Amino acid sequence: MNSDKNVFLTRPLPQPQVERLQSLFPRFHHNQENRSLTQTELSKHVKGADALLCLLNDKIDADIIDSAGPQLRIIANYATGYDNIDIAYATQRGICVTNTPDVLTDATADLAWALLLSVSRRIVEAHEYSVKNRFKGWDPILLLGGEITGKTLGIIGAGRIGTAMAQRSRGWNMPVVYYSNKHNETLEGWGAKKAANLEDLLQVADFISLHVPLTVETKYLINRETLALLKPTAYLINTSRGKVIDEQALVDYLKNKRIAGAGLDVFENEPEIHTDLKELPNVVLAPHIGSATTETRTRMAEMAVDNIVSVLAGNKPPNLVNTEVWK
Ligand code: DGY
Repeated sequence: MNSDKNVFLTRPLPQPQVERLQSLFPRFHHNQENRSLTQTELSKHVKGADALLCLLNDKIDADIIDSAGPQLRIIANYATGYDNIDIAYATQRGICVTNTPDVLTDATADLAWALLLSVSRRIVEAHEYSVKNRFKGWDPILLLGGEITGKTLGIIGAGRIGTAMAQRSRGWNMPVVYYSNKHNETLEGWGAKKAANLEDLLQVADFISLHVPLTVETKYLINRETLALLKPTAYLINTSRGKVIDEQALVDYLKNKRIAGAGLDVFENEPEIHTDLKELPNVVLAPHIGSATTETRTRMAEMAVDNIVSVLAGNKPPNLVNTEVWK
């Protein structure tokens, strides 16, 4: 393509897609350091861009959109979630916002299961115990955890990832209860029950896994009041967005053993992690790696670039979030 379009990428992506952008768009430029740009840097580098390829930790607010200039046509997020972008403002300006759904469903559900298994069977503690030469022989009460098979799995948010999470639970013969504003026929076909409300789910589930996007409605969905409904033997798993949980309330509940444990891939103020969370034995933490497999990240990069190529060629992008701009 002999394009005069200016494309800006905020951080290195898998190399083949960087090369694709370089060959398609001679005016392509990118931050070559593997770190997030500050808002000041972002607003400087985005100037004149027709397309912006950004990450979930780039805050694309009205100021950044304005800094780009009136020619900006697309903000392609390298993520499924897009709570980092001021969608209302982009839409008002007629700018397409795209994401990378589907391709990270399995990787994220796998990671949620890895956290569930690790926290309930105390795998991180067991590893530490082993490498520190504390294993002195089989012990009837050593590192007792929570049983998984046959326990109730509560899924909050029954979209693609919530469904994949439930699919995996079938191997553990777990009754599934889900909370969503819509019926999920796939889940119900597997015998899952739709909870009448969030409170009902929180009271019956042994494992609760969060799969909702971050919105005004879901911010602090898990808070001091809702945590009070959990069984003291329950485990909470979060691979969605950190702000869905009031982290201080969760810390207090974990400290007081009011719930059994938590497996967390996302945090309220990323990249900061609450100091107490790092010290508690009944948590397993991961640095937002839900989609971090080579295959998934490669596919996400291809999708983000496909979206840019479509829009800059005058076509509707395959993963348009704010569909109202394409009418
Ligand atoms: C997303 O795409 O929203 C994920 O959080 C990335 O892992």
